[in-house]
Amino acid sequence: MIKINKDISGLKESATLAINLKVKALRDASKPVHHWGFGQSPFPVPVEIQDELKARTAHKEYLPTMGLEILRKVISKYYTKVLGLSFSFDQVFISPGSKELMFQLFYILEGEFLIPTPSWVSYLPQLKIKNASTHFIHTQESNQYKVTPSELEAACDKLKGRQITLILNSPSNPTGQIYTEKELKALAPILEKYSVIVVSDEIYSQVDFNQKVSTSVASFYLKTIITGGLSKSYSAGGYRLGFMLIPKELEELIPPLKSFISETFSAVSAPIQYAAVKAWDTKCSDVFTSIETYTQVHKIIGGYYSLRFAEMNILTPKACGSFYLFINFDYYKEKLNSLGIMTSTQLSHYLLDQLGIAVLPGVDFYREQGELSVRVAYVDYDGSKIVDKLKNEKLSLDLVHLSYPQIKEGLDMLEDFLTTL
Ligand SMILES: Cc1ncc(COP(=O)(O)O)c(C=O)c1O
Repeated sequence: MIKINKDISGLKESATLAINLKVKALRDASKPVHHWGFGQSPFPVPVEIQDELKARTAHKEYLPTMGLEILRKVISKYYTKVLGLSFSFDQVFISPGSKELMFQLFYILEGEFLIPTPSWVSYLPQLKIKNASTHFIHTQESNQYKVTPSELEAACDKLKGRQITLILNSPSNPTGQIYTEKELKALAPILEKYSVIVVSDEIYSQVDFNQKVSTSVASFYLKTIITGGLSKSYSAGGYRLGFMLIPKELEELIPPLKSFISETFSAVSAPIQYAAVKAWDTKCSDVFTSIETYTQVHKIIGGYYSLRFAEMNILTPKACGSFYLFINFDYYKEKLNSLGIMTSTQLSHYLLDQLGIAVLPGVDFYREQGELSVRVAYVDYDGSKIVDKLKNEKLSLDLVHLSYPQIKEGLDMLEDFLTTL
């Protein structure tokens, strides 16, 4: 029997992967599935980035630990241009996905970690690997699942005197909500009071339905570390390229992070780093045009799902960004309970087994099991198809319905099921 580190062996397989396997098995058996479980952007990687990657395959050298200098420069310039934030290139780290660097950062930070829920699935397991002390802040649907100043104050007050790190994710996976400037400004004095370190996960920052880039807490609070990358806005999760911006106020973190990287992944693949320059170089307007189009499609589809859910008495704040909605079946609780559905896990299994609709249970996003909530990802379609059509046609909900009839079909099926309850 091999002895395995208990902090790792206690981790369960990611919920997302498990549901994908079940969906794959159903599809292999030719069973129709509405896959609302998997959050991968359906669009092509902007062609300029693909072309640059093809042109850079000869780059075989190890690149610097912190990343390719010109890439770090375009990212820092991009942040200055779009958000007015001044990070110099030597405050930028490049990593194989933002997830990896987040893990390394969590590993080197001591103290207490605050995680608002519903939360992205991976923060907690990453912190559990190092046995960190973690605390949930249970946010409310009525506040669009955003932490309020009083909730933050209460959480920080309990940890007074200790080093506190807050993980904020806006636009959010799983809720599709985005903190407004006003909301972030209201949090800043509390962050200041408890000298909180903020890790601001902004991987969906360009998937914002109201502005080109989401407002960052870094604009109002200096001790903010930003993470981002190619995976979501640029539809290139498999390229595995992310970044982290460390502010001057936290520059003590730079040397240990650099050492950690040099002893682990060393550096990100060279061709990918060269290709990624195109993603944040503000002169590459075609790339930005593509990703703005992708966001407009997400907006139309997210708006449609929000509307349909509201008509079905399913509780959810309106879609504002990312490509998820966190929905609550509280209105149907008694009826669902009478079918033996008492937990969000049972609800997800029921929806998949009986309706062929795959969603992830709220409990995987650290909500109470008894809360009948699930996450819906509304990206189960081939994005290239609509991108092609948009060369000749204008984007509209009708065009979406024509291109992807399965979207309406899945929602109709759910509605039919709820009306017969
Ligand atoms: C909220 C959130 N943060 C971070 C990540 C990780 O992204 P990356 O591909 O950059 O590692 C994801 C990916 O699913 C995510 O949804």
